[in-house]
Amino acid sequence: MRIIAHRGASGYAPENTLKAFSLAVGMGASDFEFDVHRTKDGVLVVHHDYDLKRTAGSEARIADLAYSELRKLNVAAHFAPDPSFQAAPSLEAVLDEIGPAAGLLNLEVKNDGNVYPGIEEQLLAFLEERAGLRQKSLISSFDHGTLRRFRALSPDLRLGYLGHGLSTVLLAPALGWARAVKAVNFHMALRIAFRANVALIRKAGFNVFVYTVNGREDALRMREFGVDGIFTNYPDIMEK
Ligand code: G3P
Ligand code: CA
Repeated sequence: MRIIAHRGASGYAPENTLKAFSLAVGMGASDFEFDVHRTKDGVLVVHHDYDLKRTAGSEARIADLAYSELRKLNVAAHFAPDPSFQAAPSLEAVLDEIGPAAGLLNLEVKNDGNVYPGIEEQLLAFLEERAGLRQKSLISSFDHGTLRRFRALSPDLRLGYLGHGLSTVLLAPALGWARAVKAVNFHMALRIAFRANVALIRKAGFNVFVYTVNGREDALRMREFGVDGIFTNYPDIMEK
């Protein structure tokens, strides 16, 4: 079972910052998940939310900020016990930080309502410019239009399905959506990661990755269920 550093080692350092990725690398992580957005002037950046309210206490939206403006905001402002300054990093800087440690890179593209038009072409070109990067990448999104556009651009890019508000009864239609975009992965929340659901999705031919698994007992149960990977804020979860 893969142990995927969710937003870096975000249980120990501010999520989606270079500090969190550096720490995860130091802990021996080789699989990473992070969230991709785009600034007003077209720079691909890593941050979870569409705005900076929760992390930096600013109402500003990433889509409305130039990269230089985004870099002035402290996205660690609410991180205890160490709120010392961390800027939201560019995608390029995150990949440089992870470097050769990378085995699997799950880039979750936040593009609900196509807020970043053309991000699919831009990201694909970015991945193809760097040797070996596309092969290590798994692209996921809660926005199914985004997944469809990625698939239209590339027949073999690895895609992961994510569903907002998914429940056991909605799994069958969700599997249909995942099949429709030829996803290889199905990412599900821990709250519905029951043995039968995991078995159903694996039987349908998908790798199952579960988020967000921060307790060791939960991690061991997921492994026992045959889950292929867990997203965790604690890359050392199995050693705890
Ligand atoms: O990609 C798995 C997980 O990160 C999805 O949820 O809200 O943490 O981005 P979220
Ligand atoms: Ca995510």
